[in-house]
Amino acid sequence: MKLISLFENADVGLFVIALKGHKFINANFSFARILGYKSMESFFSDFTWEKHFSIAGQSDPFDLSCGNVTTGYREMRICRVDGTMGWVNFSFGIYIKTGYIDGIVVDISDLKSLEQEIVRISDLEREKFGRDLHDTLGQTLTGTAFLCRALIHRLPKKPAMIEERVGQIENLVNQALDQARHLAHGLAYIEVKPSGILSHLKKLAAQANAVFGGDCKVKAVSKVVLRDAESATHLYRIAQEAVHNAIKHSGSPKVEIRLEINAETGRMTVKDFGKGLPSRSSRPRGIGLQLMRLRARLIGGSIRFVNRRERGFQVVCTFPLAKENAK
Ligand SMILES: Nc1ncnc2c1ncn2[C@@H]1O[C@H](COP(=O)(O)OP(=O)(O)OP(=O)(O)O)[C@@H](O)[C@H]1O
Ligand SMILES: [Mg+2]
Repeated sequence: MKLISLFENADVGLFVIALKGHKFINANFSFARILGYKSMESFFSDFTWEKHFSIAGQSDPFDLSCGNVTTGYREMRICRVDGTMGWVNFSFGIYIKTGYIDGIVVDISDLKSLEQEIVRISDLEREKFGRDLHDTLGQTLTGTAFLCRALIHRLPKKPAMIEERVGQIENLVNQALDQARHLAHGLAYIEVKPSGILSHLKKLAAQANAVFGGDCKVKAVSKVVLRDAESATHLYRIAQEAVHNAIKHSGSPKVEIRLEINAETGRMTVKDFGKGLPSRSSRPRGIGLQLMRLRARLIGGSIRFVNRRERGFQVVCTFPLAKENAK
């Protein structure tokens, strides 16, 4: 009796369905409410799994393609009764002998919006910083290079040594200007097309080599097309942070970016050959690693940080692909 009221009044969605056909044996009101139903009557008459869970790029909720699993846990997109989209944490158990599936559904739409907002604000800040860098330091350096040139022209007798030194200063200032421009471009707004990830990764590697003196190479094992431009852009930003971290922190200029398809998903690995991540207590608190994690979640993927100690650090991001990859 107590268990029944616990089931009915729980603040999270609970359901029991038949293994065959996935027809409902029971569900509580929280489950119906998460999907936008106002009453259990309308829920039981109108609900179908396809209507709420069948979303482009998302597999069946009870997809057991990974073998003999009897439990599942995943974050899924939902389409509510009014057509708006949301996110749920979806976990379930399958009882083959008794022939049913039960599960818990938690609405995480607010959490997802918050995560999106954190990443959006961080991108806006990055773009603003890029513009400021271009408009302030960039202009000052342009002015300084111009003054060096003017000085060479105005030197009355042009002693060779002075002319050479001013020329060297002018070259250095121009080099700094070039680096500031590259940095500003790296920070600027970017939208990567779903099929454009590889060419952007190649540009990223070239830029890391030119500006930061890295030795970064891209190895694409297969052609990778992402679900949409948003996913491709997040994946690019993950690579960018991982490459910058490798060059800034690893102590070795060598970095390898690998792009491949593994079973039904895409995988990007950014690997360096440096000293590896320091222990948590001696590690400065940046936001790069956390942002990579958030971005991976936003594209419906996952991220693993593999610390190989003295043999380097590795960022492995797994992400869903567009349907055309299967062709
Ligand atoms: N490839 C790497 N090799 C060695 N140490 C690393 C590597 N990547 C990250 N770290 C360590 O982890 C710390 C946290 O990285 P994170 O990217 O979160 O911050 P950050 O790079 O210091 O600053 P930012 O917020 O600008 O990214 C770094 O300060 C560094 O000590
Ligand atoms: Mg960083």
